[in-house]
Amino acid sequence: MSLLIKNVLAIDGQVGLHEVCDIRIEDGLIAEIGKDLPEDGSEVRDLTGCVATPGFVDIHVHLREPGYEYKEDIESGTRAAAHGGMVAVCSMPNTNPVTDTASTIEFVLRRAREAGHCRVLPSGACTQGLKGEILAEMGDMALHGAVAFTDDGRGVQDAAMMRRVMEYASQFDRPVMAHCQDDALVGSGQINEGPVSTLLGLTGWPAQGEEIQIARDIELCRLTGCHYHVQHVTTARGIDLIRQAKADGLPVTCEVTPHHLFLDETCIDDSYNTYLKVNPPLRSADDAKALLEAVIDGTVDALVTDHAPHADFEKDREFEEAPFGMTGIETALSLYITKLVDPGIITWERLVELLAANPREILNQPKVKLAVGYPADITVTDPKIEWTVTPDEFESKAYNSGFLGWELKGRARDVYVDGKATLKDGVVCD
Ligand code: DOR
Repeated sequence: MSLLIKNVLAIDGQVGLHEVCDIRIEDGLIAEIGKDLPEDGSEVRDLTGCVATPGFVDIHVHLREPGYEYKEDIESGTRAAAHGGMVAVCSMPNTNPVTDTASTIEFVLRRAREAGHCRVLPSGACTQGLKGEILAEMGDMALHGAVAFTDDGRGVQDAAMMRRVMEYASQFDRPVMAHCQDDALVGSGQINEGPVSTLLGLTGWPAQGEEIQIARDIELCRLTGCHYHVQHVTTARGIDLIRQAKADGLPVTCEVTPHHLFLDETCIDDSYNTYLKVNPPLRSADDAKALLEAVIDGTVDALVTDHAPHADFEKDREFEEAPFGMTGIETALSLYITKLVDPGIITWERLVELLAANPREILNQPKVKLAVGYPADITVTDPKIEWTVTPDEFESKAYNSGFLGWELKGRARDVYVDGKATLKDGVVCD
């Protein structure tokens, strides 16, 4: 049975497509794209007014399973991903046990297949138990499906260990994705070190605690030739270092999150809202501006959420006691449309680069294009829907979002993975 999606504005800069047309899907692939295609016995879905793009991919997501299923599990996290318009996510390894063996990678893949809401591309830890001391079994994990290596949640403290991680990862043609944090400098830092931390009496987390590791790792990238990907970069200086590394021709890529782009340290006030406690922390307004410029000028390769679900009882504590992290996968696309595409700051084509083409390239995944013969991994967005972010809008188990109460425009309407609907009219398919 084939499916005919009618009257969508199909946008994909990879093939120079930007026009209202119909898309026929057959056997999981795009079979035909054109104007006024005949029904020819296909099931017809009229999506007039919507935008069809290559399916979106979020390469920084905490699914929490195994071990922290009370926060999120693979079923709920991938439901949330489909609801947010994603066809694939890259899962982070700070689970319990840590995803640092082939059997845990296989477990994640099996649970993802059973859930069936989106593709899950698991990352594996660089070091055993994320402790930074002993290399994890990277080769074995790569063989069993790990697409990248990261100790996300922590920086690798020892430069020689990071060098070894990069040497191993490049042997398996996998990127090293780094959470940059110098523990000695950051200590028990809670929020960005600056006037707000002083005013609120919270320990500061200095920008240099991130930038020093970015600078170190760029030099290690120069030494090893490994593809080095900077996770959730937050500072103007960090962006400058990455811009320079790219100009030097190094294989360096980077990502930013919606919270570091659209919020800053001044959002944290004497209500001590723990949903705004993230790692790395919300930085200054000038840093957020530098991130935006880097999204516009091409320095930023990918938009990601660092979706970090936590339970109520964990966030509902004193600021210092609450864990770092906010959810994001169900608000990201709407935030990008509301804050970037609708005001004309970036085009839909650039959004496709940041959310579909580059993320796949970073993880060495097959290309997906709106063209005949490619897998029908498609996100269909209704750019006009207006909605307010409230906890009951989420499929995730958690609602520790920093955007609660925001009024957003645009939302995923349909999502197709291998031609199969995972979201239809904004409702997750079971
Ligand atoms: O805010 C964060 N939360 N940053 C991280 O790097 C880890 C994440 C988590 O696992 O909760």
